[in-house]
Amino acid sequence: MGLILRHMERVFGLGVVPLAAGTVGLLILLKMIQRLRHKQDLQDKVVVITGASSGLGKECARVFHAAGARLILCGREQKRLQEVVEELRNQSSGKIQTYSPCTVTFDLSNTSLVSSAAEEILKCHGHVDVLINNAGISYRGNILDTHVSVQRDVMETNYFGPVALTQAILPSMVDRRSGHIVVISSVQGKISIPYRSAYSASKHATQAYFDCLRAEVGRFGLQVSVISPGYIRTNLSINAVTGDGSKYGVMDKTTAKGSDPVDVARAVLKAVCHQQKDVVLAGLLPTAAIYLRALWPALYFRLMGSRAIKEQRVKEE
Ligand SMILES: NC(=O)c1ccc[n+]([C@@H]2O[C@H](COP(=O)([O-])OP(=O)(O)OC[C@H]3O[C@@H](n4cnc5c(N)ncnc54)[C@H](OP(=O)(O)O)[C@@H]3O)[C@@H](O)[C@H]2O)c1
Ligand SMILES: *[C@@H]1O[C@H](CO)[C@@H](O)[C@H](O)[C@H]1NC(C)=O
Ligand SMILES: *[C@@H]1O[C@H](CO)[C@@H](O)[C@H](O)[C@H]1NC(C)=O
Ligand SMILES: *[C@@H]1O[C@H](CO)[C@@H](O)[C@H](O)[C@H]1NC(C)=O
Repeated sequence: MGLILRHMERVFGLGVVPLAAGTVGLLILLKMIQRLRHKQDLQDKVVVITGASSGLGKECARVFHAAGARLILCGREQKRLQEVVEELRNQSSGKIQTYSPCTVTFDLSNTSLVSSAAEEILKCHGHVDVLINNAGISYRGNILDTHVSVQRDVMETNYFGPVALTQAILPSMVDRRSGHIVVISSVQGKISIPYRSAYSASKHATQAYFDCLRAEVGRFGLQVSVISPGYIRTNLSINAVTGDGSKYGVMDKTTAKGSDPVDVARAVLKAVCHQQKDVVLAGLLPTAAIYLRALWPALYFRLMGSRAIKEQRVKEE
């Protein structure tokens, strides 16, 4: 080994260790330059966040506010949004200039309300730089006992709402040849698990639509990011609907043990800054399941079949 090193030293005229260290250093520097070149600064950017009254949306509001963005917060209740605004107004930031957010209230599940809401959103600052489609509702239920109207309602909020809002904001982004559209999907937008039909279907549709959008608007210089988190510690399961449309109202163990919404919000900020196109934010097991579904579907279907039987047994006990 020593002999080889000494031989190489003679060949290169300098030590191998400094040479290797120099190469690694150069690679790191190149990577940093590349990152900086693509890094989008959020100072003064107009950022719209739907579902900003709670959970992940509220954390995104905190994180983007602290980065100096001019926020437009959306939700169904003015009072809850106003509480977030108050809290952010109190949040002082050192060097970064921060702005007091605007609010726009509307129900995403009613597409006839979305276009007038989009007009109101565009009036706040005249344009939108980043649209974060975060609002959503979950579902728990057996397909046999689920009304088709519930399947449709979840689709209205999780799929048609973001689609209508995106299409209402899109022309102004195309005109300016600038804009970034983010959607919070889920690991369940990549794989379905039993007793989540409506939710998983709405997130699969979301993934498909925004992948298509990315391809179509790339030529205008627009960015599209699909974020697929695993469980996050929010009120999502409490707010979920069941097969008859009533509220589920339970904090599931999986949700309670999920990621900290602050970490997920930071990952959303990173995805925007670094223009990441598709981000899965999940542990080893859900990530492996996504690959399994693609590479060995038969095994995936068998595993989900046993999981469905096991969960049904637990419910009946
Ligand atoms: N928590 C998780 O485990 C998890 C995992 C993966 C993905 N996600 C996704 O993350 C996103 C945020 O969910 P979260 O976990 O933060 O849940 P959450 O705490 O229940 O927040 C949901 C937000 O969506 C808004 N919203 C619900 N229905 C709406 C409607 N019809 N019109 C307008 N706004 C509506 C709610 O606002 P108002 O009630 O004030 O209107 C609320 O701010 C969702 O898209 C969810 O699917 C969550
Ligand atoms: C979750 O719901 C509880 C009441 O059910 C409420 O006190 C809490 O503020 C909610 N959390 C968020 C982040 O909205
Ligand atoms: C904001 O700060 C004021 C006083 O500085 C305090 O009374 C109020 O409770 C704070 N509001 C929130 C939402 O943190
Ligand atoms: C949707 O909004 C329109 C306009 O306000 C209203 O007339 C209609 O009743 C709403 N639809 C539903 C299902 O709430």
